[in-house]
Amino acid sequence: MCGNRSIEPSAPDPDEPLRRPLPLPLPRATSAPPMPDTQPTPFDRLGGETAVRTLCEHFYDAMDRDEPALAKLHELDEEGRVSRRSRDRFALFLIGWLGGPQDYIAQNGHPRLRMRHARVPVDIAMRDAWMRAMTTAMDEVGVAPDLRAFLLGRLADVADFMRNRPG
Ligand code: HEM
Repeated sequence: MCGNRSIEPSAPDPDEPLRRPLPLPLPRATSAPPMPDTQPTPFDRLGGETAVRTLCEHFYDAMDRDEPALAKLHELDEEGRVSRRSRDRFALFLIGWLGGPQDYIAQNGHPRLRMRHARVPVDIAMRDAWMRAMTTAMDEVGVAPDLRAFLLGRLADVADFMRNRPG
């Protein structure tokens, strides 16, 4: 027995960006091994910064329109919509989480998502409302089905990790 505790499995860190390439079956002309450095990140596959920011706008617009109880937990502007500041902070985070530039961490430090959501009452209803708004946004911008399934699966894990209220 080596007694090395470092080999014990640990839960994946929900704050960890999706830097690694997507584990998707990609058509290959040869049996050559994949080249991880050249495979696109989810950020690349979505279309880069402009596309991720567009996705975020659809997400908060869907939240404003369809999930008023969730929207009200956020900072709102004079028109009662989720504020520009909140939209931009999440967009910067998402850009990095998807494997793009790490400006959110450079400006704000480690995301510590659970800690940053501690003052927000997140129960099952809010978790599901968050996921519905994100699903609507992905459908509105037309994310490719394989990428959509992968990202919604990962985001569902993060959203569930954010729960801090029973029920
Ligand atoms: C599960 C239900 C969730 C609820 C109810 C929720 C709610 C909120 C609220 C109220 C804020 C504060 C925004 C403001 O200042 O107005 C916030 C911030 C934020 N949320 Fe969530 N959120 C949820 C899930 C998530 C998930 C799944 C992610 C990541 C994938 C996420 C990432 C963030 C980030 C990055 C911020 C900005 C933190 C900062 O820089 O201050 N949230 N969220």
